[in-house]
Amino acid sequence: MESIDREIDKLLGLRRDRDSETFKVANEVFDRTTVESLSYLIRRRKLTELRGVLSTGKEANVFLGMGPNGEKLAVKIYRTYTTEFRRIWEHLAADPRIGYLPKDVRKLVMVWTRREFKNLQRAIKYAVRVPEPVAFRNNVLIMEFIGGEGPAPRLKDVELERKELEETYEYLIRTIERLWRRGDMVHGDLSEYNVLIHGGPVVIDWSQATVRRNRRSLELLRRDVFNVTSYFRRKGLDVEDPLVVYENLVG
Ligand SMILES: Nc1ncnc2c1ncn2[C@@H]1O[C@H](COP(=O)(O)OP(=O)(O)OP(=O)(O)O)[C@@H](O)[C@H]1O
Ligand SMILES: [Mg+2]
Repeated sequence: MESIDREIDKLLGLRRDRDSETFKVANEVFDRTTVESLSYLIRRRKLTELRGVLSTGKEANVFLGMGPNGEKLAVKIYRTYTTEFRRIWEHLAADPRIGYLPKDVRKLVMVWTRREFKNLQRAIKYAVRVPEPVAFRNNVLIMEFIGGEGPAPRLKDVELERKELEETYEYLIRTIERLWRRGDMVHGDLSEYNVLIHGGPVVIDWSQATVRRNRRSLELLRRDVFNVTSYFRRKGLDVEDPLVVYENLVG
């Protein structure tokens, strides 16, 4: 077995600068499971290398990766050691699609990663624009990269013109409704933080999305409706009454 350092060097391309941000983040968060998962995905030709860090968060880090045809990819890597264990456990326990819940943190994170992958696949079926899921292995999820030269900005970080603002609002509210009515599904963390703007809105971060049968789904639906309307109200739009939108949905 090669040392983990050598393997990380390889994943990042042997000529990478050890002082680079990518190297530092990778070195800090990659454990054996992560390195093995990335190696597996590389052997399966889902990924060729990691190129940079797109985001560092509490639960996951998102890297820029390269695909076998030279395309950019987003590689979301969950920490296998997480202080969010309890929150993740509660979300999964309420999801009727999840049968057995492992007690081990690392295994629980794997269930969490797989669920996000499935959520992306499911959302696409209901015509929601999301990053296309490519593959997953353990705590690593590969998806389409949203952006051009650089990553697309979050809704929160752009100044949209009035018309675009209205269209984005309309799209997001109709998305919540369509997902719920036709897809029996709720995103659960839909806000200006989880929408990228790339020729229109793209909804990301489907980790907490769940199905209607989940006993917490109403709570999540309500939150999505309130988050979206309150953001656009702050931006000066004349939005629908969130309670009315919500009540129309739940009948
Ligand atoms: N497919 C993608 N294409 C481009 N950038 C992406 C993609 N997915 C995620 N990102 C970038 O990574 C950031 C974090 O992604 P995401 O929201 O999925 O993770 P998170 O779990 O919310 O992370 P955190 O723990 O920081 O809250 C996004 O705000 C976005 O900037
Ligand atoms: Mg997010």
